[in-house]
Amino acid sequence: MRITHLKIDGFKNINVDIKVTPTVNILVGENANGKTNIVEAIWLATGCRSFRNLKDKDIVDFTKEKATVEITYTTNERENKILYVVEKSNPRDKKVYLNGVKKKSLSQIFGNLRCIIFTPDDLELSKGGPEHRRTFIDICVSQLKPVYIMHLNKYNDILSQRNMLLKEIQMGRGDVSLLDIYDEQLSDHGTNISLMREEYSHLLRECAKRVFFDMSRGHEYMSLKYQSTVFESFKGMKQEALKEIYKEKLLSMRDEDIRMGFTGTGTHRDDIIIEVNDLNLREYGSQGQQRSVALSLKLAQAEILMRLTGESPIILFDDALSEIDKRRQIYVMNEIDDMQVILTCCDPIVALEARIGNLYAIQRGEVIEFVDNLKKMIKIGGYKVEAIDASDILKLDENK
Ligand SMILES: Nc1ncnc2c1ncn2[C@@H]1O[C@H](COP(=O)(O)OP(=O)(O)OP(=O)(O)O)[C@@H](O)[C@H]1O
Ligand SMILES: [Mg+2]
Repeated sequence: MRITHLKIDGFKNINVDIKVTPTVNILVGENANGKTNIVEAIWLATGCRSFRNLKDKDIVDFTKEKATVEITYTTNERENKILYVVEKSNPRDKKVYLNGVKKKSLSQIFGNLRCIIFTPDDLELSKGGPEHRRTFIDICVSQLKPVYIMHLNKYNDILSQRNMLLKEIQMGRGDVSLLDIYDEQLSDHGTNISLMREEYSHLLRECAKRVFFDMSRGHEYMSLKYQSTVFESFKGMKQEALKEIYKEKLLSMRDEDIRMGFTGTGTHRDDIIIEVNDLNLREYGSQGQQRSVALSLKLAQAEILMRLTGESPIILFDDALSEIDKRRQIYVMNEIDDMQVILTCCDPIVALEARIGNLYAIQRGEVIEFVDNLKKMIKIGGYKVEAIDASDILKLDENK
C-alpha cells in the first residue's frame, strides 16, 4: 500500500499539495511548523482516533471555515481516494468519502488505509498502564478482523450500561435481574474479544521476539503473553465453554461490582505481560530496553499485517527516530525496507544514512522546499545539507 498524493488545506495550519514517493518521505522543519499536523491528517484517514487527543473543534485552521484532506493511495488492486471535510460550524459531522462514496464517519472507513504509527509516546507500551497495551492490540486485531471492532463497540456499550445499572443498584434503585441480560451479552462479546486477542498475541510474540533479539544483536530476548482477567488458560477450550466461564466469573464478582459501582473484571481489564530476559519489563526494564520493546512491537505489527494481508502498511514516524541511536535507526529502516515511510524530524541529519527518498522542508504549514531523491544540496534552517546518493551520509555543514 502506498500513498501517492496528499492534498491538505485548512487542517490546522496545513496547506500542502504534494506527490508522495513510494519509498521514504522526510518532513523536516523547525518546531511548531506543522510536521505532526500532516501526519495527524493522514492518521485520521485510517479511521483511528487521533494519537494526540485532537478534538474535533480544533481541526480546522483558526482563520478558515473548513478543512479538506484528500489522500490518494494505491493497493495491490487499485487506486483509492479518501476525502474528508470538516466544517468549523459543525466539526463533529465530517463529510467522508471513500472512492467517491459517502460514508457516515471516519471510523466507518477503518481498515482501508492501513498505517502504523511510531511516536515517542510508544514508550508507554512498555512502561505505561495496561490500557496502552490493550489499545495497541485492539488496533492490531481490528486491522486484520473487522468483526473485532463490532465486538469491541458492543462490549463497551454494554459495559457502560452495566456500570450505570450497578450504580443504580448500589443506591437501591436498579433492577438486579437486568444484570443477567448484560452478563450474557458481555460474556459473548468478551469471549470473542479474548479469543482474538489470544490468537494475535501468539503471532505477536513470535514476531516481536525475533525483532527484539536481532535488535539487541542476540544479547537479549523478550517474551510476552496475553493476560486475561477472566480465563486462566485458553488451551483446548471451546468457545461455548469459555463463554460459560466468563458468565460465572461475572456472577461470582457481582456483589463486589455492586459495592464498587463498576465492573471490575473482564476484557477491559486485561493486559499483555512482557518480559525481557525473564524479568518484567514494566518494573525492571531499562529505558533502552523499554524503547526497543516498543519498537519491536510496532515492527512486528507491520510484519504481521503484511504477511496476513499481502499488503504492506504505510509507516508513519513522528519524531520517533530521533529518539533512538543510529544503530537501531538503521536496523528499523532495514526492517521496513519494502514499506513506504513518512517521517518527521527537526534535524535533517536524522534523515538517515540507511535509505533516502524525498525530502520536504515544512515551514508554517507549507512545503517551502522539495528535494526529489535527495540528489542535490539544500539549505534547511540555515544548515547546508549534502546528499549525493543512496549510500552517502548526509553531511551537516554548520558553517554553511
Ligand atoms: N487550528 C489551528 N489552526 C492553525 N494553526 C494551528 C491550529 N492548531 C495548531 N496550529 C499550529 O500548528 C503548529 C504546531 O504544529 P505541529 O505540532 O505539527 O508542529 P511540528 O512541526 O510537529 O513541531 P515539533 O517539531 O515541535 O513537533 C503550531 O504552530 C500551532 O499554532
Ligand atoms: Mg511534531
